[in-house]
Amino acid sequence: MPVSFSHLSRTVSGGWFLVVWAVGTLTAAPLDLRIDRSSPFDLEISAGLAGVPEGESRFVAWEDIVALPSSQLEVEGEFVPGLQTVTIVLLEDLWAALPVSGDRDTAIAYCTDDYFSIFQPEFIAEQKPFLITKINDQGPQAWPPEGLAFNPGPYVISMADQLAPGVSQILDVGHKRPWGVDEIQFVALAEYEAPARTGPWLDLSPRAIRGRELWINSCASCHQGPQGLAGGNKSKRPFPVLEAHARYNDAYFRNYVSDPTGQIAGATMEPHPHYTTEEMDELIAFIVAESAAD
Ligand code: HEC
Repeated sequence: MPVSFSHLSRTVSGGWFLVVWAVGTLTAAPLDLRIDRSSPFDLEISAGLAGVPEGESRFVAWEDIVALPSSQLEVEGEFVPGLQTVTIVLLEDLWAALPVSGDRDTAIAYCTDDYFSIFQPEFIAEQKPFLITKINDQGPQAWPPEGLAFNPGPYVISMADQLAPGVSQILDVGHKRPWGVDEIQFVALAEYEAPARTGPWLDLSPRAIRGRELWINSCASCHQGPQGLAGGNKSKRPFPVLEAHARYNDAYFRNYVSDPTGQIAGATMEPHPHYTTEEMDELIAFIVAESAAD
C-alpha cells in the first residue's frame, strides 16, 4: 500500500493492521523537566505544568519519553511501504508522568509547520491517542525512515483501531494524527473555548453550536478562530477573511471548503468533499455567529 502521508493535506493511510504484539514492561520514571532544550528531539511543554510560571516552557528528552511504559504496533504502509513496527507511548501515560495542573483536561499539540491538533478529555479517554517514538526501532534521530519523503519527527501522534475500535472512522480523523509535533500545551477546555462562547458567540443557534465542534476539531488545525480562539497558523488567513466569505460569498465558501483547487489553482488547503450540506450550514452558522434568537 503506498504511503498517503502528504505534507499539505496531512492525511495518513490509516493502514493500521495488526494487534499490539508486545507491551513494554518498563515502569514510569518521573519525567525530568529541563529548563533548556537539550536536543531537537525534546518535547516542549509550554503550558499547564504545576509549579512552572505561565509563559515558561519545560523540555522533556526523547530518552526519558521512551523509558515510559510503551507498546509496539505492527502496521502496514503507515510510514514506509510494507509492514513496520512502531513504538508508542499513550498520551495518558505521558500526562500521568508530568506534573500537569489539576485544572487542565485538554492537550494541544503544536507542530513544526504551525499545524495544531486538539485532544479533548473524552477523546483522550476513549480513543487512546499515543505518541510514536520509534519506527522500526529507530527514533527520530534516524528519521525520515528510508522510503518516506518527509520527516514526521520529532513526534507523531496517532490512534489505532486495535486500541480504540472504530477510531479510524471518526470524521476528519487525520486531524488527530499530527506529525512534526514538537510542543504540547495542557489547557482547560472551558478556557480554551471561551472566545467561541462569549460576545457575539455567546448565544449560538443549535446548528452554530454543532459548527463550533466541527471548527475546533477540523478547521482549527490550520486556522485561528473568532476573538482569538487558538488554532494553527498554517493557513495564514485571518479569521475575518473567512468570516467575510461565509457571510457574503456563500457559494465560494462552500466550494472552497469542499474543493479548494477547484476554486483557485494552486490552493494548498486540504479538500473536504465529504462534508454534507448540513455540515457546511453548521460551519457557516458558527463562523457568522448565528444567534439562537435569529
Ligand atoms: C491543513 C490545513 C487547513 C485546514 C485543516 C483547513 N484549512 Fe482553510 N485554508 C488553509 C490554507 C493554507 C488556506 C490559504 C489558501 C490555500 O492555500 O488554500 C486556507 C484558506 C481557506 C479559505 C479561503 C480564504 C480565501 O482567502 O479565499 C476558507 C474559506 C477556508 N480556508 C475555510 C476553512 C474551513 C471552514 C476549514 C475547516 C473545515 C478549513 N479551512 C480547514 C489551510 C487549511
